[in-house]
Amino acid sequence: MEFTQDWFSHNIPTWTKLLSQLRGKSLVRALEIGVFEGRSTCWLLENVLTGDGATVDCIDTFAGAMEHCELDLSSLQTRFESNVTAWRSRVNVHVGMSAEILPTLIGPYDLLYIDGSHTARDVLVDTVLAWRLAADNAILIFDDYAWPKYPDQPWFRPQVAVDSFLACFAGWYEVLDVGYQMAIRKRAQFSPPAQMARPPAKTPALRADAWAFNSSSAEQTTYKIEIPQKRGFR
Ligand SMILES: C[S@@+](CC[C@H](N)C(=O)[O-])C[C@H]1O[C@@H](n2cnc3c(N)ncnc32)[C@H](O)[C@@H]1O
Repeated sequence: MEFTQDWFSHNIPTWTKLLSQLRGKSLVRALEIGVFEGRSTCWLLENVLTGDGATVDCIDTFAGAMEHCELDLSSLQTRFESNVTAWRSRVNVHVGMSAEILPTLIGPYDLLYIDGSHTARDVLVDTVLAWRLAADNAILIFDDYAWPKYPDQPWFRPQVAVDSFLACFAGWYEVLDVGYQMAIRKRAQFSPPAQMARPPAKTPALRADAWAFNSSSAEQTTYKIEIPQKRGFR
């Protein structure tokens, strides 16, 4: 295998723990947005996707991102292909923009790694599109959550996108790890977060499912909101 960059090896101790339950299991499906030379892909294939029928779907433009403008990427796709040769039958490569490819894929995936474009706008789109492909209890990992680049331009970094997504989908995931990366597990059922336990006072116009997303468990355990039908709220 030939790599010119290593943006992955520092994650190995955390990934080894996080992904131990997937290791060697048959039919595990992984999705990677942003594979570059395949360093993370090869590690997954060698260490986690080792069970019968385990596969990885890889999305990349192989054109790099704005932070790669000084790298020679002319043979990036060839290098990726060569690096994954040993496992080629378990690797599905989708060349193109993640925002265009993700809607064409069919889930569910057990592991989703979001490491394509790092601009907040693109990370948010990738995350929302990837979420619908995630199996119940799937693990989602966001790279560069604590990226130190562009300190005064949060729109160029993943963090604001990841935080926005997590705020919107509160109750639908549990946080597994927060550090340089963020890892979450998609819950099979909504579980009201602590700050949602009591709807704010003076907001009777909001429907119960504004918090509960139609989750029967949430409605049973937490909310009793008068829904003012007359005002047209459904
Ligand atoms: C940081 S690298 C991925 C590194 C890889 N996961 C690893 O650990 O070695 C980001 C990759 O995302 C790709 N990329 C950037 N924007 C993209 C987009 N909008 N759609 C698909 N791929 C994109 C780039 O070509 C690049 O290969």
